[in-house]
Amino acid sequence: MSTVVFAVGARPNFVKMAPVVEAARRRGLFRRLVVHTGQHYDERLSSEVLDDLGFPRPDRFLGIGSGSHGEQTGFTLVAFERVLLDERPDLVVVSGDVNATLACALAGAKLGVPVAHVESGLRSGDWTMPEEQNRVLTDRLSDLLFTHSPEAEENLLAEGIDGSRIHYVGNTMIDTLRRLERTARERAVWARLGAEEGFYALVTLHRPSNVDAEDRLRRIVDALVALGGRTRILFPIHPRTRTRLAAGDGLERLESAGVTCLEPLGYLDFLSLQSAAGTIVTDSGGVQEEASALGVPCFTLRANTERPITISLGTNTLIGDDPAAISDVPTPSGFGAPCAIPLWDGKAAERVVDVLEAALVQSKAPIASSA
Ligand code: UD1
Repeated sequence: MSTVVFAVGARPNFVKMAPVVEAARRRGLFRRLVVHTGQHYDERLSSEVLDDLGFPRPDRFLGIGSGSHGEQTGFTLVAFERVLLDERPDLVVVSGDVNATLACALAGAKLGVPVAHVESGLRSGDWTMPEEQNRVLTDRLSDLLFTHSPEAEENLLAEGIDGSRIHYVGNTMIDTLRRLERTARERAVWARLGAEEGFYALVTLHRPSNVDAEDRLRRIVDALVALGGRTRILFPIHPRTRTRLAAGDGLERLESAGVTCLEPLGYLDFLSLQSAAGTIVTDSGGVQEEASALGVPCFTLRANTERPITISLGTNTLIGDDPAAISDVPTPSGFGAPCAIPLWDGKAAERVVDVLEAALVQSKAPIASSA
């Protein structure tokens, strides 16, 4: 029986990979090994999200943790290579664009193990983003490339990637959303926080380019304080952002302006808040997609997006790079209209596993016997 390793490391990976692992489990046609690199390790960023998703307990936990990009990528490469040498799998599956994604794809490619990449072909054109470097390099290393939108396929073809390796399957992150949407709404987390459905802004900000520089973060706080003057704001704060805010007076200023500052939330609680928000303000990639699938207007604090389909067919608007633009986002005023993006239909993971099965039947690539 073939062995397939599913590699995950950070919060968004869990959401994108969960339905793929589950679809593979249901079909039972190959041995599955789940490896968690440990890039995210906090209860709130990892365990709680994995529990919410019903993600299987990882077979191997590499404990990589925090560090510089080079350290995270390098330590994961070494540790994951050892897993591959022990297990001699027939295929490695990675997802998304975090450091764990690139490191695991590189380990596979160096040992001659075929690599499959879920969420291929996204491009922001901004080479200063660590995620953009991870996307381009992971795609170059991958044998099977799973895309979620026609633009992604065009990007890959333009980079000279052979079209026969590209499979337009849709969005596995939205599979997870569709599966858990009802459970999340039943939690009504907004009501527990005393917010009114359709009439609050949900804010998430964690990108280093937004939160690491003191001056920029201060201007973001100024803009949130201004927005908070005309609407209720709920702000679950990523650990990176909280550390930076706590280094100055950002948290106190937000709280005294009535902004509800929360710890990072599990998947279900966050989806609950997204589903009933009147407006979302974010710099996350995944949230642009989830807001679009839910039909909630989303305002993204970035000059570009690697997910243009969320603008053309979804609810996303780029407000550019200037934090002051946050103070001008429209006041939340009720419910958006659900939108339908082709193949964001809850069945993308089944299509991924169809392709994996066919590929495993066709080829049995040998793994190098030693490093
Ligand atoms: C990573 C991804 C980003 C993704 C985000 C989702 C990369 C390059 N970036 O960014 O694309 O959108 O995850 O959350 O891979 N920390 C904790 N506990 C944890 C993990 C991190 O406190 O469990 C803190 C540490 O101070 C750490 C910092 O958060 O240094 C940043 O974590 P890291 O994994 O380096 O990147 P993210 O900003 O989370």
